[in-house]
Amino acid sequence: MMLDLHTHILPHMDDGAGSGDEAAALIHALMDQGITTAVLTPHYYPFKESLPAFLERRMWSYNSLGDCKLNLILGSETYLCESLFCYDSISELAIESTEFLLLELPYTEPWSSDLFKQLRRIRSKYNLTPVIAHAERYGHVRQKRESILQELVDLGCMIQLNIDSVIDRQSRSLALSMLKGGWVDFVGSDCHNMKERPPRFDLFRRILARKLHADVMNGSWPWTVNAWDAFSCEPRTRKEPISMETEARV
Ligand SMILES: [Fe+2]
Repeated sequence: MMLDLHTHILPHMDDGAGSGDEAAALIHALMDQGITTAVLTPHYYPFKESLPAFLERRMWSYNSLGDCKLNLILGSETYLCESLFCYDSISELAIESTEFLLLELPYTEPWSSDLFKQLRRIRSKYNLTPVIAHAERYGHVRQKRESILQELVDLGCMIQLNIDSVIDRQSRSLALSMLKGGWVDFVGSDCHNMKERPPRFDLFRRILARKLHADVMNGSWPWTVNAWDAFSCEPRTRKEPISMETEARV
């Protein structure tokens, strides 16, 4: 299984695909790039929309896709805020048939102690595992790096990284250090459309092949191993950090 954990393929849901044709183009692009399973993760903002209304919109959008050769799994990219906790169950926001909930956190402001309490409550109240969406994009992570990643892991969170963060030279150093440090459980394209934010797994692979030792690329992509474990509900084992000595000279 080659998994894209984070996509905005579903049409008319958010700032992602704006039409069925655009959704179909994203699906074809992912298949061309070797992806076999994509999780559909439209934005959900609990302070803007009720959960039943969101789920109804999502089902309508999903049904509009029709038959598709790519394996599509329903999920969400849920913004973590107090409004979320008014519901007795939020299991339908989690990645279908799993306990994993992709969470978007505040980008610019420092993360408060309340936010960490909310992350704990995702586990204690709903028995779900938070997956931190594109962890490398948050100012709090960029500033504190390993200490905050360790804090998230200690809370039982999993980490998702956007492949564009490896492609983009400004964020590449942090993204590669997270991959090499063994922090990343999943990667995702976070694709929105074919013009500005297309899926770019081919380019991502080429850059990794240059930047990391070939063994890392050889059939055992760390994120695939972790993703497979997660989706088959095996006990989680965080992958070992990659030795700096194995880093390729570029
Ligand atoms: Fe996203």
